[in-house]
Amino acid sequence: MKIIKVKNYEEMSKKAAKIIIEAVKNNPEINLGLATGGSPVGLYENLVKDYKENATSYKNAKSFNLDEYMGLPQDHAQTYYTFMHENLFNHIDIKEENIYIPKGDSANASETANEYEELLKENQIDLQLLGIGTNGHIGFNEPGSKFDGKTDIVALTPETIQANARYFEGNHDLVPTKAISMGVGTIMQAKTILLIASGKNKAEAIKGLVEGQVSENLPASVLQNHADVILVIDEEAASLLS
Ligand code: PGA
Repeated sequence: MKIIKVKNYEEMSKKAAKIIIEAVKNNPEINLGLATGGSPVGLYENLVKDYKENATSYKNAKSFNLDEYMGLPQDHAQTYYTFMHENLFNHIDIKEENIYIPKGDSANASETANEYEELLKENQIDLQLLGIGTNGHIGFNEPGSKFDGKTDIVALTPETIQANARYFEGNHDLVPTKAISMGVGTIMQAKTILLIASGKNKAEAIKGLVEGQVSENLPASVLQNHADVILVIDEEAASLLS
């Protein structure tokens, strides 16, 4: 595991963007695994800025998102479909047909999950971006998720619902309670994993990830078993590391 410590959110965003831009330049046909949430917003801003200034092209790249809420129409303001288009896809030259996000409003969610897993078998992810939950989740794989888990319908824990309520008028009753998420086993198939974390509220999860026991109680700890992981974490997120 390679750990890159940076000063703050801004530096984390720049450093992680640089890693992604280099990877895209080295392999224009890259399969990117992408993430949503507060952590990657600044990173995506940097990718858009680089696209405008340096024309790094994504026209031969494919992207696969980690997860999507269930039960919201695709064009709802808080779907990850909307998030990804507003924060990144609308501003770069990636082709719409090369964008894959699980369909959270599908009439048959378990079939949708199985199809997504198959898609990922056919398209190995070269670089998977991850955030981390305060409870150590990756994607929506909450504590207790099986390490060999595949893309599936998952239930959000109260902690995650509370953390995400800030996007739903602060009202946790409006947050979907289920999602379709790549499984831990799915995520582990990626060639390289880039995890970003910023802020004190992530420090405990980062300590568990790096120094804790590998345990399904802290899903991110599975990354100790992956051969190529890069962490870009700021001082606060790194503050409990020995
Ligand atoms: P955040 O979420 O980036 O909004 O903190 C990360 C996560 O829950 O994986």
